[in-house]
Amino acid sequence: MKVLITGAAGFVGSHLAKSLLRDGHAVRGFVRPTKDTSDLEQLGVEIARGDLADSISVERALQGCDQVYHLAALTSRQKPSRKEAMTVNCEGTGHVVRAALKAGISRMVYSSTAGVYGVISNAPVDEASPVNPDSPYQEAKVAGEALVLAAHREHQLPVVIARFPGVLGRGSMSWVPLFRAIGTGKFRIIGSGHNHTHTGHILDVVDGLRRCGETPDIEGQCYLLAGKSATRIDEFVKLFAKELGVSISSMRLPDFPYRVFHGMSCMLYRLFGVTLPRANDYELFISDKVLSLEKAKRELGYEPKIPIEQGIRETLQWYREEGLI
Ligand SMILES: NC(=O)c1ccc[n+]([C@@H]2O[C@H](COP(=O)([O-])OP(=O)(O)OC[C@H]3O[C@@H](n4cnc5c(N)ncnc54)[C@H](OP(=O)(O)O)[C@@H]3O)[C@@H](O)[C@H]2O)c1
Repeated sequence: MKVLITGAAGFVGSHLAKSLLRDGHAVRGFVRPTKDTSDLEQLGVEIARGDLADSISVERALQGCDQVYHLAALTSRQKPSRKEAMTVNCEGTGHVVRAALKAGISRMVYSSTAGVYGVISNAPVDEASPVNPDSPYQEAKVAGEALVLAAHREHQLPVVIARFPGVLGRGSMSWVPLFRAIGTGKFRIIGSGHNHTHTGHILDVVDGLRRCGETPDIEGQCYLLAGKSATRIDEFVKLFAKELGVSISSMRLPDFPYRVFHGMSCMLYRLFGVTLPRANDYELFISDKVLSLEKAKRELGYEPKIPIEQGIRETLQWYREEGLI
């Protein structure tokens, strides 16, 4: 099989490329024109340069491919504006959809996010739970999902949607701010710490993505992919602190002001399309993120294996090697 990965030079894309190559697939990576691709080329990835905004470059990249994993996006870490997120993540997805239909691919996997639920208060959530995006990134991912599903209904695009949460593992840049904050030794948990977060290890997420790409007769479906179970926030923070070798104060900050601040940000976002600075960062402490993996287990045979402790350890080890911590 010849497989195109958009965003192949990114964190998830590069791990996915390794997994596909290991199993004997030919991999083409869609990457931006100025990106250093020496690592990918060394692995044996064929490079197709372009930009999601340039539909011709997307079409060229998909020519001759059997499958596409569409991962390229502006991510929550980059905090894109509504316009940027819609242009790259939604219109860009439209270009991939049209090129995939033209190339007659047999499967497209669309990488969405478990962030589509916004702040979760009715845990656990599953694929049928209502979405409630409260940032440009989340909203554009929801719009991208709607777009690929419309193409499935109207043009039989063989697409599968994968929603996953924050990913741990070597190469993940998402956790630098939290490690740094906890590393100061002055970190305080906001609220009781009894709410949950649910993360995924990169190898489990890649395994789930591959199952979305390879399981027959699941076109038009959406799957949540994540680690074995959710973790209570006080435990989660303790695990980070343990790896860093610092202690965590038992003093808590009241969550009420943060909930009000976040609520105001959501209101402003709905009215004017702007969020208050850092409001989305507080979601970790006010959301009860527990994701049901029942559908993925039942229909894909998905069985995440890697303990969260290992993910945190590997992530920190990589930050230390890279001089980020
Ligand atoms: N990592 C997570 O925790 C997480 C969680 C949930 C969902 N996801 C989703 O998983 C996917 C991959 O995420 P990631 O963590 O691997 O992010 P990443 O490391 O930032 O990779 C994203 C890639 O997309 C590329 N890209 C951005 N804009 C582009 C454009 N206009 N044209 C072509 N390529 C473009 C980036 O290129 P440059 O390198 O040139 O900027 C980058 O290589 C994304 O769709 C993300 O929303 C990730």
